[in-house]
Amino acid sequence: MTRSEELGVTQDEHTAPVEAWDAIAAGYGRHVAPTEVPLANEALGLAGLKAGELFLDVAAGTGGLSLPAARLGARVLATDWSSAMIEELEARIHEERLPDARGRVMDAHSLDLEDDTFDVTGSQFGVMLVPDQPLALREMVRVTKPGGRVLLIAYGSPAKIEFLHFFIGALQAVNPGFAGLPDDPPPLEFQVSDAEVLRKRLVEAGLKDVRVETSAERIEFRSGQEMWDWVLNSNPIAGMLIADLTEEQQATMRQVLDGMLRERSTDDTAAVLTSPVNIGIGTK
Ligand SMILES: C[S@@+](CC[C@H](N)C(=O)[O-])C[C@H]1O[C@@H](n2cnc3c(N)ncnc32)[C@H](O)[C@@H]1O
Repeated sequence: MTRSEELGVTQDEHTAPVEAWDAIAAGYGRHVAPTEVPLANEALGLAGLKAGELFLDVAAGTGGLSLPAARLGARVLATDWSSAMIEELEARIHEERLPDARGRVMDAHSLDLEDDTFDVTGSQFGVMLVPDQPLALREMVRVTKPGGRVLLIAYGSPAKIEFLHFFIGALQAVNPGFAGLPDDPPPLEFQVSDAEVLRKRLVEAGLKDVRVETSAERIEFRSGQEMWDWVLNSNPIAGMLIADLTEEQQATMRQVLDGMLRERSTDDTAAVLTSPVNIGIGTK
């Protein structure tokens, strides 16, 4: 039984189990996390993270937010419920010889950490998608020092997420019956896609001076294959959507993506797909 199950946090049909995240950990580290660095640096700048400060990353994956924080000179603890993600993250800490960063396996709903410990606590595309987000946000606030900052980075409206529309368009080219992602309710990934809902959740978690900045993730894709690798390794949902397709249908999807990206690219090298992002910050 996972810690979430012990706590009675239910896994609904849209929640990927920890094993599904373990399975994409290596691909996440290779294809996805490196593309998030500009967004992570922007968010850490907005939260005012400084060298020497103690930074906690919750649902850290392979370090999309914690590695940029460590490169800034912060002392970093990165946590994730997936031991495979933490192993990937530790390999990168080792490769880059980042002296003040380490990882620990931990469920976001129940942080095994003391109250009032961290200067800044953050989560990028992590606490965004957990089933009991209010509980996970209260945990982030609990372990932050009074006067410290809490940072949550989450996707904005799914209607404007271009990689999603490209991928679903390619899927519909081989499976015209596919109706798209559910929208009532939408997947948990989009529970705070409305900036006002995010703001309220941060206030309800006990934060003051809450502000939500809107930004964008910009990902460059040079081929259908490159986009395929990114999407399939970014979230287990993508693998579930194509699970029933044959190898041939999957190859056709990559060709369709190739064509869509070529049409989008202005200089025949890379197409840039954007997604709206909400960056919520509050003070404890
Ligand atoms: C989309 S990835 C984001 C990873 C990373 N924060 C980044 O910016 O690259 C979502 C992460 O949330 C983790 N996760 C999902 N549910 C979790 C939970 N209940 N507790 C801790 N981590 C969780 C997954 O294992 C995965 O690493």
